[in-house]
Amino acid sequence: MAEGDFLEMATTALGIGAPPRHVALIMDGNGRWAAARGLPRFEGHRRGVEALRRAVRAAIDLKISYLTVYSFSAENWSRPREEVQSLLGLLHRFIRNDLAELHANNVRVRVIGARSDLAPEIGDLLREAEQVTQGNSGLTLVVAFNYGARQEIATAVRALAEMVAKGEIAPESIDVESISAHLDTADIPDPDLIIRTSGEQRLSNFLLWQAAYAEFVFLPILWPDFDRAAMIAAIQEYAHRDRRFGRVEAPRRSAKTAS
Ligand code: IPE
Ligand code: IPE
Ligand code: MG
Repeated sequence: MAEGDFLEMATTALGIGAPPRHVALIMDGNGRWAAARGLPRFEGHRRGVEALRRAVRAAIDLKISYLTVYSFSAENWSRPREEVQSLLGLLHRFIRNDLAELHANNVRVRVIGARSDLAPEIGDLLREAEQVTQGNSGLTLVVAFNYGARQEIATAVRALAEMVAKGEIAPESIDVESISAHLDTADIPDPDLIIRTSGEQRLSNFLLWQAAYAEFVFLPILWPDFDRAAMIAAIQEYAHRDRRFGRVEAPRRSAKTAS
């Protein structure tokens, strides 16, 4: 039996909730992984790309619908120039080398984060990844690049304010739905599970709005060591959580999944 089917059966049998539809990963700890081995930080990032490939494969096998990966934050530009250059180079190589395989695996790539201030070649590359895979119906891989949640919310609020100024909408019409609809993630469901590696327990400006009811799992391992077993362990912990969404009890599972 495939591991994904097994996991789904196990969680269903125990009545501990459905597997997560959307998993988000804060891929942290590349620098510390390299430092522990006396290697340059770049080597940690390079090995981090291999861990990302394992994470994508695991997400496909576990039948997760959306996998969001935090690859570069709006604040990461303040790292040393050489490190920023090496991270941009790795993104470039990841898309160049892996796009065909992602496409063959029916993966749809989406990119969130600010595009306007990116170098044209990076912008073109991200657009190409989205365009080539837009018709795919398998895993949606959401790449958060040059992403900052506060900036994303500010941009959405500015767009709504402009609509008010033009008389297109009334201020009273601004609500949770209209703000959500103006975020980069407009058509992506909120994350169910956010996993951060490296032992740090913070969001670092990731999906602040969308994480309102996400479950968090903080793993002590460093990102280059992330693998399928770590993903399964995090999902098993998630499966034991009692998600209440402000209610007294968790919403009842549907008859179909509870049978
Ligand atoms: C995550 O690893 C990669 C990015 C933030 C781009 P780090 O580079 O943050 O590694 P640590 O946290 O310094 O170990
Ligand atoms: C968060 O990690 C960003 C990514 C994983 C891309 P950081 O390493 O940049 O976060 P802080 O600085 O430790 O909060
Ligand atoms: Mg870090």
